[in-house]
Amino acid sequence: MALLFFSEDDDPVAWSAALRARLPDLDIRIWPVIGSPDEIEAALVWLPPPGLLASLPRLRAIFSLGAGVDAMLRDPTLPDLPLCRMVDPSLTATMAEYVLACVLWYHRQFDLYARQQAERRWKLYLPAPAVATRVGVMGLGVLGSATATALAAHGFSVRGWSRTQRDVAGVACFAGAAGLEAFLAGSDILVCLLPLTPDTEDLLDAALLGRLPEGARLIQVGRGRQLVEADLLAALDAGRLAHATLDVVREEPLPPAHPFWTHPRIRLTPHAASYCQPATGAASVAENIRRLRDGRPLLHVVDRRRGY
Ligand code: NAP
Ligand code: GLV
Repeated sequence: MALLFFSEDDDPVAWSAALRARLPDLDIRIWPVIGSPDEIEAALVWLPPPGLLASLPRLRAIFSLGAGVDAMLRDPTLPDLPLCRMVDPSLTATMAEYVLACVLWYHRQFDLYARQQAERRWKLYLPAPAVATRVGVMGLGVLGSATATALAAHGFSVRGWSRTQRDVAGVACFAGAAGLEAFLAGSDILVCLLPLTPDTEDLLDAALLGRLPEGARLIQVGRGRQLVEADLLAALDAGRLAHATLDVVREEPLPPAHPFWTHPRIRLTPHAASYCQPATGAASVAENIRRLRDGRPLLHVVDRRRGY
């Protein structure tokens, strides 16, 4: 079986080696040297150009190198084939680590101290116990539930919000439109770990941010199009929100003239929150390739109606 590999962010050599260690006979074609397109039966991709997958006439399955498949679903030519998202321990662990680091930074008032340093001010705020900080995690899927669990294990008061009711040990769970207001009202730090779908696009707007406690902080690690950027700037400038950490933005890379670059209450990272290591990610892809060969059901298939 021939597998197409396409990614501008992932290392094709490391992925090929990790896949061949598990499937020595796998024929891997690294874009753009793909040979005959009609020999390719599976594709392992991240942000493929629209139309690439449709140009493979014998394609049987698409494996995403990332957890979020929103960009692929926006391609009107995307073939109607099983589309599997990435579920991988390194992707999950690095996300939980990133969010924990950000929450600790806020909990220990480092955003405040950074502003004080810029003003040459020396003022102590006595540290509060972790339990006094309420963290709300939007999205209780693979990444959200692991992140909420890691935050709870550190002692924070953690709540989570999902589309359907979830049960995560140590986490107060809220669901749907009916649970949103109460969830937001108790989130001193809001973490967005939702997939981008028609329901979550522009969800983080003035109305939603206005339901957070005064002086709340935002950690956005979902997708840029979930956040109404002008509404965030207005909330920060009015002091309603104290600070935001943005790992994802509407246009990536962020345009040079964008106000986020220099805003004193915004910290940016370049879509770097979590990363799938080939060594572990290849195990999950190899398992799905074996299943495809044997005609068994694939794992982690995206529900296209839901959009994630
Ligand atoms: P997942 O397992 O599919 O979980 C998605 C969660 O979001 C589920 O709990 C789901 O609710 C909830 N949800 C979806 N639509 C909702 C809605 N309209 N209202 C309320 N809750 C809703 O996804 P995942 O693997 O955790 O990944 C989540 C997202 O993280 C990805 O889609 C991607 O956008 C982002 N991500 C970012 C990075 C980064 O580096 N910044 C890395 C990886 C992933 P149910 O439980 O009821 O289904
Ligand atoms: C990264 O953003 C992913 O979806 O895995």
